[in-house]
Amino acid sequence: MIKQAVEKSINDQINAELYSAYLYLSMSSYFESKNLGGFAHWMTVQAKEEVNHAMKFYGYINERGGRVTLKAIDSPPVNWKSPLDVLENVYKHEVKVTGLINKLVNLARSEKDVATENFLMWYIDEQVEEEASADAIVQKLKLIKDSANGLFMLDHELAQRE
Ligand code: FEO
Repeated sequence: MIKQAVEKSINDQINAELYSAYLYLSMSSYFESKNLGGFAHWMTVQAKEEVNHAMKFYGYINERGGRVTLKAIDSPPVNWKSPLDVLENVYKHEVKVTGLINKLVNLARSEKDVATENFLMWYIDEQVEEEASADAIVQKLKLIKDSANGLFMLDHELAQRE
């Protein structure tokens, strides 16, 4: 049986993951409005990954005999200044999520919940990847600067994400 403090924090994390999905879907919609279909596609895939992250936590609480309690999801922003502004915000958001996962690990440790600590290691690895993939696009956008051709090529590249 999962301890109450751990159950509560994982429920909060489900909310944070679903908010991430909302945020990335809103970013996808921003890119659609700018006719950058590749960026929009990349963000949609990212949003689906966030739903998967939430569902993995959902399954874990149930498996441990806990109770999932869903809370309201905040509205995400609607507009950004540029594609670079969007991706910088993705990166910042992922760093924030990494902090939340680290806090969860520390809680599991203080509660001596080895199973949860072990379960969270998947998220630790995932966050390294999430931060790196957002940062890679930020760096490319910085190189591209105001080149329409560069943006077009990057849009084409991001459209390939599976
Ligand atoms: Fe669920 Fe992008 O962290």
